[in-house]
Amino acid sequence: MILGIETSCDETAAALVDRDGTLIASIVATQAELHAQYGGVVPEIASRRHLELIAPVVREALASGGATLDDVRAVAVTQGPGLIGALLVGVAAAKALAWARRLPLIPVDHLLGHVASLYLRPTAAEPPFLCLLASGGHTMIIDVQEPTRHVVLGQTLDDAAGEAFDKGARLLGLGYPGGAAIDRLARDGDPSAYAFPVARVPGLDFSFSGLKTSLLYTVRELSADDLAHRRADLAASYQRAIVRALVERLQAAAEQTGATRIAVVGGVAANSELRAALPAGAILAPPALCTDNAAMIASAARFLPALPYPEYLSLDAYASV
Ligand code: KG4
Ligand code: ZN
Repeated sequence: MILGIETSCDETAAALVDRDGTLIASIVATQAELHAQYGGVVPEIASRRHLELIAPVVREALASGGATLDDVRAVAVTQGPGLIGALLVGVAAAKALAWARRLPLIPVDHLLGHVASLYLRPTAAEPPFLCLLASGGHTMIIDVQEPTRHVVLGQTLDDAAGEAFDKGARLLGLGYPGGAAIDRLARDGDPSAYAFPVARVPGLDFSFSGLKTSLLYTVRELSADDLAHRRADLAASYQRAIVRALVERLQAAAEQTGATRIAVVGGVAANSELRAALPAGAILAPPALCTDNAAMIASAARFLPALPYPEYLSLDAYASV
């Protein structure tokens, strides 16, 4: 089995995946509540919390998989991109575990990890496919030819789609993290109540910063009372604009490349309207594997080179690509 560890942002996660990609156990301890009072992730607080949580989360993953460290053949860990202090906690923990057991260590890129959420059994899909990665930190369209061979066709020029959800939620007074909250509230709203514009940028890139500004101006015009009454309509219309932008670009990319299979990964892939707006047959991971987790990291590790003991002791993390 591969033990996966993920600490790139505000989720402390550990998971077990076996040789053929079957998910054995996945534990995610979210720190969202801890950061909610600040309206976003505070890096220093995230690092400290990872430090407290990492050992119990690994222990719980092993227990939930009915396994011990004796069953682990390799340790996989997110090397980047993400918050550097948060990443270093995971990397240090992975090194310590691997070194103590003389196991190989497999560093994994977080974005490749998101794509690899699709390779987990029992729902596993295989490349080639066109993949939209939409998370809190990234929004890109990737032509995935093989698990380790891919080309980025387009990406966001400013905010990520998840960031747009989070900033929108903050403007609507929904707290952090906002994507799931907007998703829930939008079900009671009218998506055509407001016409929010989505910037059209050339090629297959995205831009979401104008959309957020447009919501800001609309909210400013409303009294507190009106805002309370229109909140669901605003959420539904705002969500519609983001989903449209994502789906339109994905379709354009499919036409351009001739791709017949479409996949969506990352936290925003948990969005119910996006899932419903995708063409039938679109490849999606279960919602729990869309947001950050360690199962996707262990899954990606199956296709990546392992660093033998003790070569990885000097391994460093990276904050950005
Ligand atoms: O992949 P992820 O867990 O972390 C990053 O790698 O960034 O994505 C987190 C993002 C957040 O911006 C969150 O608001 C968004 O995913 N998200 C959603 C939903 N669930 C999470 N956005 C829209 N609808 C959801 N249901
Ligand atoms: Zn992520």
